[in-house]
Amino acid sequence: MKKFIVCLLVGLGWTGYAAAAGDATAGKAKIAVCTACHGATGVSIAPNFPSLAGQGEGYLIKQISDIKSGERKVVEMTGMVDNLSDQDIADISAFYASQAAPLGVARESSVAVGEQLYRGGDVEKGIPACTACHAPTGKGNSLAKFPMLAGQHPAYLAKQLRDFREGDRVNDGDTRIMRDIAEKLSNKQVDALSSYISGLR
Ligand code: HEC
Ligand code: HEC
Repeated sequence: MKKFIVCLLVGLGWTGYAAAAGDATAGKAKIAVCTACHGATGVSIAPNFPSLAGQGEGYLIKQISDIKSGERKVVEMTGMVDNLSDQDIADISAFYASQAAPLGVARESSVAVGEQLYRGGDVEKGIPACTACHAPTGKGNSLAKFPMLAGQHPAYLAKQLRDFREGDRVNDGDTRIMRDIAEKLSNKQVDALSSYISGLR
């Protein structure tokens, strides 16, 4: 069904989707250097290394390209993506997207604050509900390149929100979607949200 929709969109001349079609089998042969941190199937075991398994293909392509261009700074990956072609990036992204996403568990004490913010936002502070873009199940929106958050390591999620808030991650475009939201989050809210989101399914 998904394939059909993509074909239809391409057929109609809509080119917003990834230019080069990724080949997951080819991608599997191109991730040797990545597995030490992101795991053999994209499920990482270290809390500061993000899992990539089941993540949206378009989002992965954008991130790897942003890391390559320096738009997103990941010091741990210095020099590792410089030689990847657009086709390599598409293949690697197709591979990780095709793998089963990990499941997380929320800390009980974070659910009340996390759920309220995730589903309802905070009208007073002008924080929109995260569900609008990341979906009620935390699966994100693949075509729109809104990332899946469910099952991701809470420590990684919290770091991203702090990085957006402090301007250390700036690759959310001219619209500043995530920077404008994260700016309004307190440390306590970041902590609760990250734990809650990780347990979504
Ligand atoms: C030495 C460890 C390490 C290696 C090896 C590594 N990465 Fe990463 N990667 C990281 C870290 C750490 C981050 C997150 C940095 C941050 O906090 O923003 C990251 C982030 C990413 C992201 C963004 C994930 C997201 O949810 O936004 C992608 C995609 C990615 N890496 C792909 C790769 C690929 C492809 C390779 C191999 C070519 C690779 N990485 C090799 C450590 C590594
Ligand atoms: C209007 C759409 C929108 C809303 C609302 C939104 N986000 Fe996002 N979010 C995005 C986009 C787009 C990105 C990816 C930016 C990029 O390309 O690097 C993102 C990225 C993220 C990331 C980084 C994921 C990763 O793998 O690195 C986290 C964490 C996150 N959002 C959490 C939240 C939380 C928590 C809320 C609610 C308080 C929220 N978002 C509301 C659009 C949105």
